[in-house]
Amino acid sequence: MVKGRERWASKIGFVLAASGSAVGLGNIWRFPYVTGEYGGAAFLIIYLIAIVLVGYPIMVTEIAIGRKAKKNPVGAFKALAPTTPWWLVGALSVLTGFVVLSYYSVIAGWSLAFMINSLGGFPEGIGVAASIFEVHTSKVLEPIIYHAIFMTLTVVIISAGVVKGIQRAVKFLMPVLTVLLILAVIRSVTLDGAGEGLAFLFRPDFGGVTAETILSAVGQAFFTLSLGMGAILTYGSYLSNKDAIPGSCVQIIGFDTVLAVIAGLAILPAVFALGFSPREGPGLVFVILPAVFGGMPLGTIFGFLFFLLLSIAALTSAISLLEVVVAYVIDEHYWPRGFAAVIIGIIIFIAGIPPILGYSAWDGVSFAGMNILDTYDFFAESIFLPLGGVLTTVFAGHVWGARNVIKEANRGNVSLKVGYWIAPLLKYIIPLGVIMVMIMTIIEDLD
Ligand code: PHE
Repeated sequence: MVKGRERWASKIGFVLAASGSAVGLGNIWRFPYVTGEYGGAAFLIIYLIAIVLVGYPIMVTEIAIGRKAKKNPVGAFKALAPTTPWWLVGALSVLTGFVVLSYYSVIAGWSLAFMINSLGGFPEGIGVAASIFEVHTSKVLEPIIYHAIFMTLTVVIISAGVVKGIQRAVKFLMPVLTVLLILAVIRSVTLDGAGEGLAFLFRPDFGGVTAETILSAVGQAFFTLSLGMGAILTYGSYLSNKDAIPGSCVQIIGFDTVLAVIAGLAILPAVFALGFSPREGPGLVFVILPAVFGGMPLGTIFGFLFFLLLSIAALTSAISLLEVVVAYVIDEHYWPRGFAAVIIGIIIFIAGIPPILGYSAWDGVSFAGMNILDTYDFFAESIFLPLGGVLTTVFAGHVWGARNVIKEANRGNVSLKVGYWIAPLLKYIIPLGVIMVMIMTIIEDLD
């Protein structure tokens, strides 16, 4: 439709780029610590259910909307439902992209810093490992510099365009990252006392499950699959009509889920074996993995490689976040790509400074007991993403029509078709279910 709009170079190009978007800090940094925080196996099971019942239908829908409209999120809703206010859902996506990338880049910056610092070797012993994280985050300038470096890399790739920039990086990165994680798993599960961590991860206790647990599992499903904010929709807009949507979704989701579980296995058994608490919060991976690698033969090399790959995995996700905002200003306001990437990159960089200061100069600032970074993350994951996802399903189910979603998704060379079972999910079950869980969480919190 739009003249000169880029296309993925091949079918595998889309699957790789979307997997690159999905697999990132969400799997390796976020999944283990929220699973730890919300009690382990019961959380894991609810999360897996959310992946199938919420994640899969929404991913199919976002890609179908994107491919049909061949537009950024705002333009896509305008194209499919002209003269209605549904484009506001696209606007919410663009706003969410801003918020998520601003703190995502801060955490990716931690990963870069750990990569560089690992060259000096990770010291043995958990106490020391814990203090490395504290020492790093309590500084001001260093985290800001790493955040700036990471945003610069993201801007450079997005300026180069989606296809060239993203496709190549992802292809070799994913297999290597998987191998390294598996090495960490082997080390972690063979530590003395790892059994307790395995039981925590696989023996469910539903006694402690609250609405907040469910909302966090659903939010994690959105976050890890890059859903609810137009990132996958935007990538779908570069997809050709011949490519199969349902099969691609199964591959992307399968890979993302396997990697999250592997990351959980690499981290949680070691948490227990090393006598640490699973409720450590956002620092968990940065405390545990250096300790795991530190006690391993060739630990320095593995540690360095691990944080290198984690940084690259974060980069292929960050690209998809920035692309949402950049595609919007290119399509709707005719900004040149390079200019858009730089200006928006700078604004997002500035928005990321308060979360950094929240660990040092502004460590007294809190919102409902959370520091600034946790507050950004809370709004993104517990409110913006689920809300964006719900509004997308309502739009797809009732405005554009579930029939049209399914027709668009099953177009092309599809061997696996998406069934009509997703229609009631899109129309009623997902929106009502997610809104109910959100309301129950608020009521819980008021008690
Ligand atoms: N899915 C990415 C991750 O797991 C994060 C992300 C969220 C990317 C939303 C794009 C959109 O790290």
